[in-house]
Amino acid sequence: MTGILHRMGYQTIDVRPIAGALGAEIDGVDLSQPLDERTFDAVHRALLDHLVIFFRDQTLTPREQLVFARRFGGIHLHPFVKGLPDCPEIMPVIKEAGDTRTFGSAWHSDQMFTARPAMGTMLYAKAVPPVGGDTLYANMYMAYDALSDSMKDMLAALKTFSVGDRFKQAGGKSRAQRYAGTSKMGELLKDPGNVQTESAHPLIRTHPETGRKTLYIGSHAQRFKRMSDAESAPLLAFLKTHAVRPEFTCRFTWAEGSLAFWDNRCTQHFAIGDYDGHRREMHRITIAGDTPF
Ligand code: OGA
Ligand code: MN
Repeated sequence: MTGILHRMGYQTIDVRPIAGALGAEIDGVDLSQPLDERTFDAVHRALLDHLVIFFRDQTLTPREQLVFARRFGGIHLHPFVKGLPDCPEIMPVIKEAGDTRTFGSAWHSDQMFTARPAMGTMLYAKAVPPVGGDTLYANMYMAYDALSDSMKDMLAALKTFSVGDRFKQAGGKSRAQRYAGTSKMGELLKDPGNVQTESAHPLIRTHPETGRKTLYIGSHAQRFKRMSDAESAPLLAFLKTHAVRPEFTCRFTWAEGSLAFWDNRCTQHFAIGDYDGHRREMHRITIAGDTPF
């Protein structure tokens, strides 16, 4: 039904929304081949229109995934975790059958704790559990739009303060402690001690490409700048809950060869850790972003 409509809209690709709020599957594109300008423009527009796009049944080498990712911008390297030995731009996200911790299992926007957070994240499924391991996404334009006018006015002046290191969040010192000995996600960089893991950003953010306002919040946000923890807590709790109301979300079920690409500037996501005892392996590339305003 939507296929023909959207084929007309996008010319070279099929774009099929998977939920009312956000998310669309794209057919008719082989990402292992260089995309011509028109196809790339259509894919880019689909990302801006649907916030997260999904491709099925792709067969990609790390290099091919990187070539596609580079069409969208420079690569944002993870501040703590090493990439693949032969392709450092790709960070493996792996949960082994024996692991209990699930990476990304809280609503968040990637790298919100850095000064220039990742614009987008591309995740490519190499191995998936027989069932479970879906990812949820939420539309932060909708979250902003649904607020009352007075609330919007009040929030306009606020900045969030984010911390990307759970040990630091808890008053400890280093990210290395958290990963040491437990990580199947690649080794830590040699000296992760000095990387910036704290950042302040506008709570209401303007998307640089669409010009639309979005609620820029996620689990990394600890409090509001120039406000105490106690003052921040109730409003932060309200916004974190409000932002992910079910009607703002979609859910993606992976298969081997699926690729998701999401826009961190206007979405949050959540990795569901419901597949203990099974292995899941993803290849992740993050695209560099600019300073939120
Ligand atoms: C990420 C992330 C979600 C998932 O890679 O940033 O949050 O489902 N992953 O693995
Ligand atoms: Mn993430």
